[in-house]
Amino acid sequence: MADGGFGPASGTGKEYPGNLTLYVTVTCIVAAMGGLIFGYDIGISGGVTSMDSFLEKFFPSVYRKEKADDSTNQYCKFDSQMLTMFTSSLYLAALLSSLVASTVTRKLGRKLSMLFGCVLFFAGALINGFPRHVWMHMVGRIFIGRILLGFGIGFANQSVPIYLSEMAPYKYRGALNIGFQLSITIGILVANVLNYFFKNIHGGWGWRLSLGGAMVPALIITVGYLVLPETPNSMIERGNQKEARDKLIRIRGTVNVDDEFNDLVAASEESRKVEHPWRNLLQRKYRPHLTMAILIPFFQQLTGINVIMFYAPVLFITIGFGSDASLMSAVITGGVNVLATLVSIYGVDKWGRRFLFLEGGVQMLICQIAVAICIAVKFGVDGNPGELPKWYAIVVVLFICVYVAGFAWSWGPLGWLVPSEIFPLEIRSAAQSINVSVNMLFTFVIAQIFMTMLCHFKFGLFLFFGFWVVIMTIFVFFFLPETKNIPIEEIVIVWKQHWFWSRFMTDVNYPNGSVELENDNRAFKKV
Ligand code: BGC
Repeated sequence: MADGGFGPASGTGKEYPGNLTLYVTVTCIVAAMGGLIFGYDIGISGGVTSMDSFLEKFFPSVYRKEKADDSTNQYCKFDSQMLTMFTSSLYLAALLSSLVASTVTRKLGRKLSMLFGCVLFFAGALINGFPRHVWMHMVGRIFIGRILLGFGIGFANQSVPIYLSEMAPYKYRGALNIGFQLSITIGILVANVLNYFFKNIHGGWGWRLSLGGAMVPALIITVGYLVLPETPNSMIERGNQKEARDKLIRIRGTVNVDDEFNDLVAASEESRKVEHPWRNLLQRKYRPHLTMAILIPFFQQLTGINVIMFYAPVLFITIGFGSDASLMSAVITGGVNVLATLVSIYGVDKWGRRFLFLEGGVQMLICQIAVAICIAVKFGVDGNPGELPKWYAIVVVLFICVYVAGFAWSWGPLGWLVPSEIFPLEIRSAAQSINVSVNMLFTFVIAQIFMTMLCHFKFGLFLFFGFWVVIMTIFVFFFLPETKNIPIEEIVIVWKQHWFWSRFMTDVNYPNGSVELENDNRAFKKV
């Protein structure tokens, strides 16, 4: 059995009619573009921090150290808390704003939260791209810009995945939701390519274009979001039943939406009983949800992916590439990231979430061990490689690409998809905020301490992340139920049937109309 016998079979027996209409497809594509701003920023940060002109202007001491002679320990040459703070300050801001976004998303709707995100992000990009005014010190301004970008990302990452999962017909929820991750990866790739070209602009002001370029996706998305409809779930949650029903008919392309509509109303009635979603999360029956809201983003970051995403160029310089080759290699890993995400779009609703998680985990682990060995053999512990043969560098990049592919069809997309589909409506917004905050917290931590970790752990850094990949893969195997093909407001069923989590769900009822079949407690049908 695909789920290893630890989760319910996919499908609850409930089948809402409704197709993948053009309307829902276009809506989801536009909404998913929210990932672009997040991705663009991830890609840009790593690139500009390896540009000489940028370093010289903002972080002159790092610049001098990087230019120092070859005897400087390679593992430590970018180790500067200020430099990493440039990358990571954004994630602290995102962490805080995702908590505020929870209330906006719940009370004012998903769409407004998404719009808010874009506008804040645009403001941040504007400040960062044109830091010419005299009202503040240059470095201060660049940090203020990053904080505004972070506020924007906090709002977008909180609301877009929920929006997608609520809009999508349940059979295509995985694929449509992963549009968000696809946008993230496209954003990263575009940023990598732009860095590559902007770096060589004469006069050394290319970094300004890289940073200011973030305005372009922000503008496009803002316009797109203005015309997006609200999700029916959110309309019902805010008391607009009639409008919600009409919208559901439009989205699903059929008038036969009673089943789904009634379930949404029932979920909303449950939700209305809850006055304090945050406090509510601490109840025993939400223990599985809370665990996942914390562990999934924690594990996603502990794969070590952002070491590659933020610092690929810097890392490649560290292992002996020239500055151009380093940015080029970042473009290559960025391309692999996009292509491999397409694989998960294709497979997630066919093979299921668990399969992708488990396969991706094994693949990442093998590559992490291989990269650690490659670097250990050449750099040893003193970090002085001498001449690095070209073929050697190529082998390292190759392993890094296979690792990125493993992430890109497992923890990358699923780290956003699974949390957006496993929470009942009454806690969905709050729990998603926890997911985003934990994600941002550990993105921050890794961005902030990576250079220091590399300096101290050396090649062992890759083994450190490999260790966590082992833990998370075991966790998924035993504790994560399969959620493919299960309508979002019926998800409670997977918890009630799980070998471990069911013990927390004893006083939770099955959704209306679902009955347990006598001889097989994994299957349900609608009566
Ligand atoms: C993660 C980011 C990561 C990106 C890489 C996202 O799912 O949240 O931290 O940089 O994937 O593609």
